[in-house]
Amino acid sequence: MYKIETKRKLAPTINLFTFSAEEVAAKAKPGQFVIIRLDEDGERIPLTIANVDKEQGTISVACHEVGKTTAQLGSLKEGDAIPNLLGPLGKPAAIEKFGTVLCVGGGVMAAPIHFKAKALREAGNYVIGVVGAATKDHLVFLEEMSKTCNELYIATDDGSEGYKGIDFLKDLITKKKIDRVVAEGPVLMLKAVADTTHPLKIPTVVDLIPTMIDGMGMCGACRVGVGGKMLFACVDGLEFDGHQVDFDELLARLKTYTLQEKVAKVFWEEGEKTI
Ligand SMILES: Cc1cc2nc3c(=O)[nH]c(=O)nc-3n(C[C@H](O)[C@H](O)[C@H](O)COP(=O)(O)OP(=O)(O)OC[C@H]3O[C@@H](n4cnc5c(N)ncnc54)[C@H](O)[C@@H]3O)c2cc1C
Ligand code: FES
Repeated sequence: MYKIETKRKLAPTINLFTFSAEEVAAKAKPGQFVIIRLDEDGERIPLTIANVDKEQGTISVACHEVGKTTAQLGSLKEGDAIPNLLGPLGKPAAIEKFGTVLCVGGGVMAAPIHFKAKALREAGNYVIGVVGAATKDHLVFLEEMSKTCNELYIATDDGSEGYKGIDFLKDLITKKKIDRVVAEGPVLMLKAVADTTHPLKIPTVVDLIPTMIDGMGMCGACRVGVGGKMLFACVDGLEFDGHQVDFDELLARLKTYTLQEKVAKVFWEEGEKTI
């Protein structure tokens, strides 16, 4: 069993959980993820590792409640335990001295981007952070990012805090000499970041999070089109060259189970465990 050591509310529907998971913590690196299951009949959900404490034998994940299983996780308390936590999965992020690195984290993914930003800063990079969210109430990890990054910029879709939208990135990357862009967040945001950096030929890696099942390269659920090839996000990623990703295909595939997901959430809210 994997005990929840701490649970911290980051935003109304976003929590940061620290799980006791000694073997995972011993190996986990920025950019990797875990797959958890909350009970025997439960769905397996992937979450990106947002921090590791090797001494304490813990890993942290930030989770946004968007459907049945993430809401169920949000209902757990400190001291509760879950039966399955598999990982670390995926390849570690590329961490080396690139020069000036722009780290963009959208929504809940500002927490795992912080884990990468910290490692990139420790590797000797000048790190510029961008944290974005739908509204100011959904901004997370601002304090952590402002401590870790050399500079931090904030953006919201509705302009309730910081820049309105992501258009300011164009100015930012034109003014600064950026050697690499690293982005995690919603697919539409990743696409916007990649479209912005493409004309300037700034190397840009994005973490792709398509629907996953086994997380180990066997089921094919997470296939993504990159540079005309079919790759599996769980074993070939999560980091991919943002200028080569077929974002339209990815966006279409993410809608495959929308109806089933809505039904599962309604049933869970009505007190049913499974459908
Ligand atoms: C490798 C990987 C890492 C991830 N890391 C995190 C993380 O650190 N924190 C976090 O909160 N979430 C993360 N996610 C997304 C998370 O796994 C899903 O939100 C979760 O599986 C949804 O389960 P659910 O039963 O609550 O909702 P569902 O009923 O499965 O989905 C509810 C809604 O969320 C949308 N949705 C589900 N999965 C995704 C996705 N991958 N991308 C975009 N929209 C999605 C659905 O289209 C639907 O509209 C990650 C996903 C992957 C593949
Ligand atoms: S999740 Fe099954 S192949 Fe990637």
